[in-house]
Amino acid sequence: MRRTRPRKILAASIGWAMSLIRFVGRDVLKPLSVKLNLAYLTLSTHRYRLVYEGSPDDLFIVTYPKSGTTWLQMILYQLTSDGEMDFAHIDEVSPHLEETLVPMGRKVSDLPGTPRVVKSHLPYRDIPKGPGRYIYGIRNGLDVAVSYYHHSRKYWPQRNQRPMDEFFGQFMAGRVPYGSWFEHVAGWLRNEDRLNVLVVNYEELSADLEGGVRRIADFCGIAIDPAEMPRILERCSFAFMREHDARFSMDRRLLPKPAESRTAFIRQGKVGGWRQELDARFEREFLKACDRWLRDVGDDRFRILSGQGSGQGGAVEPAPGPESGEAADDRGRAPLGVG
Ligand code: A3P
Repeated sequence: MRRTRPRKILAASIGWAMSLIRFVGRDVLKPLSVKLNLAYLTLSTHRYRLVYEGSPDDLFIVTYPKSGTTWLQMILYQLTSDGEMDFAHIDEVSPHLEETLVPMGRKVSDLPGTPRVVKSHLPYRDIPKGPGRYIYGIRNGLDVAVSYYHHSRKYWPQRNQRPMDEFFGQFMAGRVPYGSWFEHVAGWLRNEDRLNVLVVNYEELSADLEGGVRRIADFCGIAIDPAEMPRILERCSFAFMREHDARFSMDRRLLPKPAESRTAFIRQGKVGGWRQELDARFEREFLKACDRWLRDVGDDRFRILSGQGSGQGGAVEPAPGPESGEAADDRGRAPLGVG
């Protein structure tokens, strides 16, 4: 009897200590390590930008995620090679700046070939700046939001089985990796440092792939052999890329059982596909924000970005900033794994 009580007290104390350890590990240290990891990434990106020695041969493909990055990577690959698809993943030929070069301290100038093509989702303020070329891909924000929704459900299933309206709220508030779409697009279109930027619309590529490919080639100073054009167009088509989805998707890297993946990375590829998933409520909210952020980018571009129609991209005219100072909450560094 006398022994039982101290035992009970001891057992309760051990239980309490275990809960404490679990609480510290899960609720204190884990968020801290995520925060530290983000802080590390932010600092390494800043450092990389400061020590970057730019060259006219550097070519950056930059987009907000889900705006047609992979498509642009494929166009550049087809333009700069025999297009034989001799890679396991497209990131081998145009590596992801902030996921591979920055963390490993690898320089752009160490990449083989000319031009040296890298892809990035960095906002304008964070991109390494130099005399190279920058292709900025834009897509209407509602299609971006829907594409991002499917991407996050597929690749971060534990965190992102939330319904569309919840995800859309986070997207609008910039509480997704790479922050606010509005701020990203406005910053790049504003192009305050007068970088050599070509803006390419996803919608333009969809309507006239050949015209878009020629514009990109002109901008990069690449002469296209007319005999090669059919191959380039065929390989940059949705059908061809979809057929080779494994070379573009992040399945092998991020999914435990890639073979069982049911949603393709080259998913739907539609202009205005958002209409199947978002109703007028979302559209109204989005248009209101577009009015605040993007009204000054020119009628054509505004129509495309806000999902109201299609039109041509072009050389970047500096655009004034948003009238409202509304900023994104989580616009800092993105966790790794946004393709
Ligand atoms: P959807 O999810 O709307 O289908 P990113 O490469 O920036 O992640 O963008 C992915 C989006 O680009 C996906 O949009 C994908 O289907 C689309 N895409 C990729 N290649 C394409 C192509 N050749 N034609 C049309 N859309 C393409």
